[in-house]
Formats: sequence, C-alpha cells, structure tokens
Amino acid sequence: MGATMSRYPIELELHGRAVVVVGGGQVALRRTRGLVEAGARVTVVAPDVAGEFDELPVTVHRRRYRDGDLDGAWLAHAATDDPAVNAAVAAGAERRRIWCARADDAAASSAWTPAVARHGEVTVAVTAGGDPARASRLREAIAGALADGSLPLRRRRKRAGQAGSVALVGGGPGDPGLITVAGRRLLADADVVVADKLAPRELLSQLDPEVEVVDAGKSPHAHNLSQDQINALIVERARAGKLVVRLKGGDPYVFGRGGEEALACVRAGVPFQVVPGVTSAVAVPAYAGIPVTHRGVTQDFAVVSAHLDPTAPGAMADWDALAHGPGTLILLMAVAHLESVAAELVKRGRPARTPVAVIQDGTTPRQRVLTSTLERVAADAARHGVEPPAVVVVGDVVRLRAELARLRDQLVAA
Ligand SMILES: C[S@@+](CC[C@H](N)C(=O)[O-])C[C@H]1O[C@@H](n2cnc3c(N)ncnc32)[C@H](O)[C@@H]1O
Repeated sequence: MGATMSRYPIELELHGRAVVVVGGGQVALRRTRGLVEAGARVTVVAPDVAGEFDELPVTVHRRRYRDGDLDGAWLAHAATDDPAVNAAVAAGAERRRIWCARADDAAASSAWTPAVARHGEVTVAVTAGGDPARASRLREAIAGALADGSLPLRRRRKRAGQAGSVALVGGGPGDPGLITVAGRRLLADADVVVADKLAPRELLSQLDPEVEVVDAGKSPHAHNLSQDQINALIVERARAGKLVVRLKGGDPYVFGRGGEEALACVRAGVPFQVVPGVTSAVAVPAYAGIPVTHRGVTQDFAVVSAHLDPTAPGAMADWDALAHGPGTLILLMAVAHLESVAAELVKRGRPARTPVAVIQDGTTPRQRVLTSTLERVAADAARHGVEPPAVVVVGDVVRLRAELARLRDQLVAA
C-alpha cells in the first residue's frame, strides 16, 4: 500500500461482533483490552499467552494460528513477533475481505489502530505516519488539553427547560496557570462567566465568543455590581438553563464572599458546586520566595483581613492575639491601613524589628516585592507607591527570601 496514499479514518461498532487477535504478548494484550472495552467478542490465538489474558472475557486458543481462524470474524489483529505469521494472518484477512491491523508493519497493514484520547463523549484518534511513539506523545498532549479545558470542549447547547447550575470557581491569584484543572474545565464549558477584578483575566480572552462574560469588576474602590446584584444575576442565568461560572480571585471562600453566593444559590434552589482555588494568602508569598511556614522558624500562620482600621469600631480581628500569636501573619486588603495595623501590632507586643514583606500584584508580570520591618513598613510602602492588591507577610519567614536569593546567586556564580 502506498505510503503517501491517505487512509480513511472510521469508527467501528464492534459490540457483539467477532474479532480475532493473533498473538499473546503485550501488544496483543493492549489491542485485546481496547476491543473488549468496545464490546467485541474476542478470540485470541497464540501458543504462549500472557497471564493477564486470563482476567479478560475472551476465548483463548493456545496454539499456532491456522487458516480458518478468521472465519466469521469482522476484524483481525496480527500482533505476533513473527512477521511470517503476521503476513499469513494479513493474507487470510485479505482473502476474506476483512480488515487486518498488523502490529509489526504499518505499511503492510490494511487497518491502523490509532492512539486514542477520550473525554466524555469526545474521542480523538491519532495516527502519525506509522510511528506509534509519536502518535502516543500527541495523544498525551491532546488528552492533557482535553482535561484542562484548553480545547474548545463546549457542551452541546442546552435544550430549553434543562436545569442550569452555578460553579463558584477559584481562579488563583493571577497567574493563569494557577487555576485548577477542574476550574479550567468548567470555564471551557461555561455559558456565562461572571468574573471578579482579581480573577485571572487572561483566561477570559480564551473563551468562545458566544460565552457571555459579565465583568463584576469588584475592587475595594469600584463596585460595578453590588453583591446582591451578583447573587441575583447568577441565580437568574442558572434558572434560564445556563452553566454559570463565577470566576473569583484566589479561593472563593477566603474573603471572597463565595459563601454568600453559595447561600443565594441554595436559597433559590439552584444547583451549585464550589471549586477551591489557590489562595493569594499562600501563593503570593510563595512566588516572592517566602514559604509561609518553615521548620525551625514557625509552625503556624494566620490569614487576616485588614480592610478595617484596627482602631475603628466594628473591627473584628483580635489584634492582641495576633500580636502575640501565630509565627507568620498574612494580611490581605491591608494597604490602606498599613500604618495603623503595623502600629497596633507593635503596640501590643510584636517586636518593631519583625521582618515584613509587601507583595503587590503577586504571581503576575507586574509583581513587586518590598521588604521592611514592622516599624518602617508603612513609610516604605508609601515611598514606593505600593497599591492594592497586595499581600503583607509579617514574621521571620520573610528572611528566607534573601536566603533563597543568596543561595541561588551562589549557584549561578559557581
Ligand atoms: C477580597 S480579597 C480575596 C482573596 C482571594 N479570595 C484569595 O483567596 O486570594 C482580595 C485581597 O487578596 C489579596 N490578593 C489577591 N490577589 C492578589 C495578588 N495577585 N497579589 C497580591 N495580593 C493579592 C489582596 O490582599 C487583595 O486585597
């Protein structure tokens, strides 16, 4: 068969149909497994058959192939390590006008078995010029892309009246690679995406044009939509049969008001799921070279919202406990009140020299890191024009950033 001639791809319905596999080694085993999964009635012919065949619902003839074995078969696989036997099977198949896949010689085959990636009802079959290793590398890449949602795997349009649902998806702190596989997949399936300001915006540009994108644009200063309006919107779209992805920055349940949105869905009888995200509280320090715990330095950390001035009435955080308590303090939404937060911690007993890091726009190309101490951090941040969003890390773990950088430089220099 001419190598340049194009082949004709096709899927076969093998359920209940007889297929003969000649060969009893690992290649024959793989083929047999695939055929069994497709529901074929498989007969295996080989003098030596791998033990794994015993666990499969197949008929095994422990002998050499002989003419007549293919009678009644719809398809044959020649997968022995003896080219003469494979050629005899292929010739027998040709005489009976049935297709035969030869494992040893793609060019002499009348049928090829592709490398297959499956995802739900989608099947992608790959052949690569008779090079199985190349086909299987491609298959792995495609399977990964199907799983992480980077291929347009959108569901068929929903029928009218079909129930919609809401997924509260944590998008991670900004780097688009930090969304989870589950979150990415839901995003690829979404009919409507309602995105926060701090959600990874790059992912929005990859959505299908027909996906409705609502920019909820929530930030400390600009509320395009109120929380009540967002709750009403996601419930309304889900009731209209849409799959709504509420894409949030970091983790939906860490100062993300995800709990309120979940309650709104449950109260409205709308099915919802939550997909946790990589929170900025841990990931932003990590990208800046600061582990939030470190053996011998600290065993605990606390994540605190500092959006209220600690001295203002209504501030709920126990600053006394935080001044004496966890080894590492992670402060979110702290830029506006950095001066009074730092002063409060010092006043209540944290040493004024405690190291502090302020990381702005963490995990994004705009990331900036400022290191200082509790007594100086407010002035330093003001001088460098630090703006939200920023994560503030208070504690001795901050020193690890310089240590890591020093060791890395040494290695580069060596
Ligand atoms: C309303 S909270 C939401 C936190 C989010 N749910 C999470 O788990 O990361 C917003 C705050 O998170 C922090 N933040 C979120 N993304 C950030 C980033 N990329 N860099 C620095 N801080 C960030 C900032 O403190 C910001 O003010």
